[in-house]
Amino acid sequence: MTAIIADDDVDAHTLSRADELIGLIGRFRGKYEQSLRHLSYIYYSSGVVAPTADESVALFRHFGGLRASLPWANLGDWPTRVDSLEQLSRDVGGADIWVKREDLSSAIYGGNKVRTLEAIMGEACAAGADYIWATGAYGSNHAVATVLHAGRAGLSSGVALFPQPRSIPARENLSAMLSARPDVINVANVVGLPFVMAHIRRRGQRRGQKHYVMAPGAASPAGAFGAMSAAIELADQVEAGTCPAFKRIVLAVGSTCTTAGILAGIHVAALLGIGFGKPGAPLPTVNAVRVTPWPVTSPARIAWLAYKTAQRLSRLLGEPVDISYRSLRNSLQLITDDYGSGYGMVTARGVRAADAFARAGGPPLDIVYSAKSGAALLDLARATSEPILFWATKSSAPLPSATDGQVGDLPGQVRRWLLDRVL
Ligand SMILES: Cc1ncc(COP(=O)(O)O)c(C=O)c1O
Repeated sequence: MTAIIADDDVDAHTLSRADELIGLIGRFRGKYEQSLRHLSYIYYSSGVVAPTADESVALFRHFGGLRASLPWANLGDWPTRVDSLEQLSRDVGGADIWVKREDLSSAIYGGNKVRTLEAIMGEACAAGADYIWATGAYGSNHAVATVLHAGRAGLSSGVALFPQPRSIPARENLSAMLSARPDVINVANVVGLPFVMAHIRRRGQRRGQKHYVMAPGAASPAGAFGAMSAAIELADQVEAGTCPAFKRIVLAVGSTCTTAGILAGIHVAALLGIGFGKPGAPLPTVNAVRVTPWPVTSPARIAWLAYKTAQRLSRLLGEPVDISYRSLRNSLQLITDDYGSGYGMVTARGVRAADAFARAGGPPLDIVYSAKSGAALLDLARATSEPILFWATKSSAPLPSATDGQVGDLPGQVRRWLLDRVL
């Protein structure tokens, strides 16, 4: 730093005073940025976000009665666009590839989990929670989304994290999480997660606080309501002529929450008779690309969560929702070829797909999830000229990063994972 003012004519005393001054400015800037962040949290948690859904949420447009029974936190910018990927279509030789821009679901942090969190944070607020906890891998997108959006729903946040293969994007995610100052618990091994979740709840009770702890990915019927709404939104876009009635929807499946919600949603759209749900027309097949191991992503488990989600809708509406487990299972095809050697492991096909999307002006793909589904989409698109939809699940919003102080506060094992060199 001294180099910018160093001059042979300046004596050592002046230089050291200048160093002090630069240090002071740096500290002031740090404090200033910190205060700005705090101010924005106070602003967002002071009732700016309504506790019930607004008109932009497709589920409530079609089932207005749900407003009274289903709490919702408005976090995302809906609807997300559906774009034609013309260049990519040409690159793979005449396919008709489209993309649902879920990556743009929020300028704060987008991606598929914003929808999940609208439903879950609504439920947490209604239950009187003070804290919301995400559980997942060190670089979990779901955890980033949770901590960056929690303040907007008036919730404090925490993350219970377990190790994953180290990569630069995963480290950037962890750094982004820390910038929002969540409580952080290290879970040495994923096997211990249920005990840690129970511990967080009990410890909260002892302190007179309510802590809402999500399972990884918030894979539950409540969490799947967000993606169910997304599929109904897509059906509205088809109905409005914005895009064709897709034959296939391709996305990465990790915790199963998003895929199950979409499955339920396309069947609800069919009952409503909108978009691809025209009587007699075949519904789109959901091609879920496995990124986490069996049995987490077994087809039976995904279809079962979709079924439970439809059942929950039925209970909330107080009327039957005629969607069978069998019909949901029939709309699902699991693709396992792009899994590679494990969760978080890079595949060459994924890297090539990310390059192909980038060259064609598509959304950015991440190596853990969407690059693997991108690779599967390219194969499927080569084999058909029917319209096919890529569900862009990875946020494309710029990420904040942690200060040295925030990194310093981390549990030792997590800090080492963050700071050690990526090989
Ligand atoms: C970028 C991205 N794509 C896809 C998924 C899979 O979604 P789900 O866990 O709901 O199956 C995730 C989950 O975190 C994700 O972060």
